[in-house]
Amino acid sequence: MPARRKREELALGLDIGSHAVKICELASTGNGYRLKGLGSALLPPDSLEDGALVAPEEVARVIAALIANLKPKTKKVAFSVSGYSVIVKKINLEVMTTEELDKHIHEEAEQYIPFDIDDVYLDCQDLHTNTEEEERTDVMLVAAKKEVVDGYLEMLQSIGLKPVVVDVDAFALENAFETSFSQDENVALVDIGASKMNLNLLAGGSSALARDVVLGGRQLTEQIAKALNLSFDEAEELKLGRTAAPDQETQETIARLVRETCTQWSAEIKRALDFYQTNHPDDPIQRLVISGGGAKLAGLADFLGRETGLPAEIFNPFARAEVDESVINPAYLKAVAPEMVLAAGLATRPAEF
Ligand SMILES: Nc1ncnc2c1ncn2[C@@H]1O[C@H](COP(=O)(O)OP(=O)(O)OP(=O)(O)O)[C@@H](O)[C@H]1O
Ligand SMILES: [Mg+2]
Repeated sequence: MPARRKREELALGLDIGSHAVKICELASTGNGYRLKGLGSALLPPDSLEDGALVAPEEVARVIAALIANLKPKTKKVAFSVSGYSVIVKKINLEVMTTEELDKHIHEEAEQYIPFDIDDVYLDCQDLHTNTEEEERTDVMLVAAKKEVVDGYLEMLQSIGLKPVVVDVDAFALENAFETSFSQDENVALVDIGASKMNLNLLAGGSSALARDVVLGGRQLTEQIAKALNLSFDEAEELKLGRTAAPDQETQETIARLVRETCTQWSAEIKRALDFYQTNHPDDPIQRLVISGGGAKLAGLADFLGRETGLPAEIFNPFARAEVDESVINPAYLKAVAPEMVLAAGLATRPAEF
């Protein structure tokens, strides 16, 4: 765990997913975290499209209700973006000072970004991979469309929140991992949401490959709805096992679609693992850690374990956090923990900006 200043004020972690908003409040205990509160609420369908807000008022209403319920101490929030409008790229540059890098990154970035450079917010971080022999270093470049980021900022400000950190989903995932696991292992973090999968392969404590794939739990619900001629909501209830399949044929259809979806997800994960393996043959990934609502699909962890040959487990971002069980119901916490990973990662960010 990274050394942290004592009891610094932390931002409220807010993960605005296409299916649900998740919120998490942590307190710093000096050498770890205490979980103060968490909550989630479904969003109306089509509130987000490919990571961009399309129904800001509806989303604002849902978040305001969650905040009213949670009553967090701070109004400062950390949120993250992903999707088409966000570009994350690792580039290799000559070693330079932070000031030089900040100046240089603008012209350097143009070749990697498919948008007008004036339309994006740019950020970069030196990963300090240079050695005595090699005067070059890897730099993580992040660009996000201003229009999309500003849409979130305005929406959050409209309900009295103060956004202090804008992160990227894949990095929030990494942050959550760093607070809950030992960093000695090389792992593949896979967050499977409703409409996308974030993959982040960590080696030697930093991200070696981060990618978003447009696959998720919604696609399975849509396939069930189509195959059985049901509404989306009816299909979702069947998928989650909240309603029982009326007959064996229906049950078999669902099982087949679940299998096909798991196979497709697994193929994407294997593709990323293969790509990594080709570039780092001597430093293999040792474990899969899966999260997001999609990770709760029955049998998925075992299936992925068999397919990839790596041990696979479901991410509990609160494994090392102090939890007051008189305030937070342990059964509820266990059930929602896999979906809370991004919010938990965001909630570790300091609020002082
Ligand atoms: N027990 C479960 N079994 C199978 N799927 C589940 C289960 N619980 C939740 N899901 C699915 O997980 C998805 C929601 O997960 P999550 O809350 O992580 O998505 P999101 O963050 O809102 O979406 P995204 O990150 O893609 O924008 C939905 O498709 C939901 O049907
Ligand atoms: Mg998500």
